[in-house]
Amino acid sequence: QEYELGLIGLGTMGQNLLMNMADCQYAVVGYDKNKSKVDALKEATRAYKITGKYDVPSFVQVLKKPRVVILLVPAGKIVDYVIQDLLPHLEPGDIVIDGGNSHFTDTNRRIEALKQKNIEFVGMGISGGAEGARKGPSMMPGGKESSWHRIQPIFEATAAKVDGEPCVAYMGQGSAGHYVKMVHNGIEYGLMELIAEAYDFMKRVLKMSNHDIATAFESWNNDRLESYLIEITAAIFRQKDALTKSDLIDVIRDESKQKGTGKWTSQDAMNLQVPVPGIDLAVAMRDLSGYKDERAKATDKLSGPVPEKVTDGDQCSLDDLEKALYFSFVITYAQGMAQLRKASTEYNYQLDLATIAKIWRGGCIIRAAVLEDFRTAFTKNSNLENLLLDDNIAASVNDLQDEIRKVAKASIDFGVPIMAMSNAIAYFDAYRSARLPANLIQAQRDFFGSHTYERLDREGVFHTVWGH
Ligand code: 6PG
Repeated sequence: QEYELGLIGLGTMGQNLLMNMADCQYAVVGYDKNKSKVDALKEATRAYKITGKYDVPSFVQVLKKPRVVILLVPAGKIVDYVIQDLLPHLEPGDIVIDGGNSHFTDTNRRIEALKQKNIEFVGMGISGGAEGARKGPSMMPGGKESSWHRIQPIFEATAAKVDGEPCVAYMGQGSAGHYVKMVHNGIEYGLMELIAEAYDFMKRVLKMSNHDIATAFESWNNDRLESYLIEITAAIFRQKDALTKSDLIDVIRDESKQKGTGKWTSQDAMNLQVPVPGIDLAVAMRDLSGYKDERAKATDKLSGPVPEKVTDGDQCSLDDLEKALYFSFVITYAQGMAQLRKASTEYNYQLDLATIAKIWRGGCIIRAAVLEDFRTAFTKNSNLENLLLDDNIAASVNDLQDEIRKVAKASIDFGVPIMAMSNAIAYFDAYRSARLPANLIQAQRDFFGSHTYERLDREGVFHTVWGH
């Protein structure tokens, strides 16, 4: 029997993606260096058109030519090792897809290296975790467009669908797919931080119980905030701990970890000089959470507002918070999309932002009802510089600003940090300022370093001997 696609890396996600493909009537084969994972695959997929192989040659041998192999292994060196093992067995015209969260610069390097052997390398972001892989993920492939057309049927069949449209599309040449996935993850970090801040606000300012917090997120999920992350957050607040029978959320250590994709998004945004402070702050807050011992010391040393002076109730409502969160969600997506737009020109990806909004509507971690509005905005104007410049999006955030300002003020009064959320209104205010105080920064630069400045009233470059 010939197999249409081979997958290397039989973790839960790999196994689930194979089962999803088999459900779509594709015969597929899996391989893993770890024999017990191959055993587990065979055991779990007896009823499917799936087989497992214990070594690379026999895995490659059963693949239909030209071969398609997808790697689902941890990003980094392992991808290079797997390619090294695989390469001697492949032939010109074969396609290797990297479905992990690889750094886009590694993807560019691998494309070039495999091109020497006439093997096509496709960097493909896959989002949705284990469940997405099983039921339909959102997928972001890059590379040569001709490679995409060859693998299109199987990936369109296995992707999540929204209104019948598959959540997979060709992103652009080179590392475009991995770049788009990286920014997806940056936005993911941003939204997660915002939701965490909303939780802190509910708990410490609005004094809500876990039960009421769950109910609030559930009801928000039925309205404009409808999204996967809000949905799972509601479920998290209903979860009991098997050990103590108390609410599980209360016994989880408050130190968030990360594998790096959010940081990469921020790093590259800085390289491209695109401001994405929502994402930067989400990374910074994960980092700050890691200083738990230091924070404990600081709790004794640094005092917050005097509790009696803080009035509650009259300052802010749950409804205000919902509006503030929605406002901040829009700002975070807008920043990520602006980064994609700049990257598209800088790296010659030729990204279509409407298509990206379309394939993010289902299957991925940042799927949300609001993506339909973003898709509409980019369909209307594919050259839109920033989502906030779309008439409908602008009207929706303009309408919510009173509430986010109220929430930001209350957070300062209560001493409850909402870094990303209060930054969302600050970014909005900065972005809508036709004039910023950057003139002073130019004056300072020229004062101490003769860096020169431009003028508003005439052309040219000027320098002043300051203080004379
Ligand atoms: C997805 C996710 C996934 C990512 C996790 C963990 O789209 O399915 O983005 O790819 O690995 O979210 O990321 P961190 O460990 O960095 O939080």
